Amino acid sequence: MFWSHVLVAILLSHHPSTADNEQLAQTVAQILLQHFVHPFEAVQIDQAISNQAAAFHRQQDLIDTILRMLGGRLVVRRYSTRPTIVEPYFFHLIFVDGDEALTRLLAERNIINYETSGLYLLVISEPEPPDQSIDSVLAHLWNLHLVNANVIFNRNGHVLVYTYFPFREGHCEHIKPELLFNLTTLQENFTRPTFYCNRLRNFHGCALLGGTFEAKPYTIYRSTTSNATLQVGGFEGDLMQVLARQLNFSLSWKNAPGQWGFARPLGNSTGLMKMAQEEDVDFAIVYKKMYFISLSPHVYHQCVVLFDDNSRGMNR
Ligand SMILES: *[C@@H]1O[C@H](CO)[C@@H](O)[C@H](O)[C@H]1NC(C)=O
Ligand SMILES: *[C@@H]1O[C@H](CO)[C@@H](O)[C@H](O)[C@H]1NC(C)=O
Ligand SMILES: *[C@@H]1O[C@H](CO)[C@@H](O)[C@H](O)[C@H]1NC(C)=O
Ligand SMILES: *[C@@H]1O[C@H](CO)[C@@H](O)[C@H](O)[C@H]1NC(C)=O
Ligand SMILES: *[C@@H]1O[C@H](CO)[C@@H](O)[C@H](O)[C@H]1NC(C)=O
Repeated sequence: MFWSHVLVAILLSHHPSTADNEQLAQTVAQILLQHFVHPFEAVQIDQAISNQAAAFHRQQDLIDTILRMLGGRLVVRRYSTRPTIVEPYFFHLIFVDGDEALTRLLAERNIINYETSGLYLLVISEPEPPDQSIDSVLAHLWNLHLVNANVIFNRNGHVLVYTYFPFREGHCEHIKPELLFNLTTLQENFTRPTFYCNRLRNFHGCALLGGTFEAKPYTIYRSTTSNATLQVGGFEGDLMQVLARQLNFSLSWKNAPGQWGFARPLGNSTGLMKMAQEEDVDFAIVYKKMYFISLSPHVYHQCVVLFDDNSRGMNR
């Protein structure tokens, strides 16, 4: 009798928030099943801890509970330092016990793993993370330009999902946590939010700076009466104008001295490569190749030229 009480006491002391964890796990599983299901993309799970062993056990317990709830409906892979595939994962589920753990994790990982157009769900496994911890987590995400990201955790017994919208009416690169979902309020109001939507669909007039050099007819510098701003026309320049109108950003240009330059380790590149690498510009564009560096997935674009060849008809 005595021993069974001791055992119960130990179990209770080791799992002070089992009920809260259960709700957190359930919400995570629901978000995953709503947004992370794909016929051939797996979900990559990664985790880090900066605190004591208790935090590790709590985190592990949470992961196990979520996997049990998923019941094999998703293909899940653990982060591996020697990945078997070259392509980065699109779906990321990351467990940390706080912002320090995320800092450590990102320092150890190869950032090539983090596909900027991918979906990210960050789970803070310790309850009651302070506000500045959430701020710091979001700042990390924005540093890597991961905008399709939500952060979920428990606070005061409520399961909360926070996110950020970098471009909002009247705000550019606005990295402020916004409450997207509160499980407790859901019980009174059944409207679930859209956890992942295209947050770069409308830049709300924010300015993007492009780097380029003149390469006719792809990029043609337009002579401007005032030399305050460079204007770029030509095939590629016009294409960017269309994009700017569609996505509602204001476009300005910066000339790359030294044209393409050389891509070398950070700090030693030259020309446009240097501007792009050091994020001196938001994107770089030039004939044949077009790279979007900062705000969208890397796009490779090749100019297609049509010409009439009498002997073989129309060729590409
Ligand atoms: C979540 O909802 C509950 C119930 O409405 C409320 O008491 C709590 O303050 C909410 N939490 C946040 C962070 O809004
Ligand atoms: C329910 O939640 C949605 C989304 O958060 C909100 O727009 C709506 O006003 C809420 N309705 C009620 C009755 O609280
Ligand atoms: C583009 O952004 C501006 C500035 O925020 C806004 O006034 C305008 O309505 C937006 N246009 C569209 C089509 O959303
Ligand atoms: C163009 O730039 C030059 C050198 O920076 C400056 O002296 C000149 O006043 C500028 N012209 C106009 C029209 O802004
Ligand atoms: C950058 O260039 C300098 C001078 O050539 C060289 O000493 C340094 O090792 C280079 N750095 C890297 C990271 O390649």
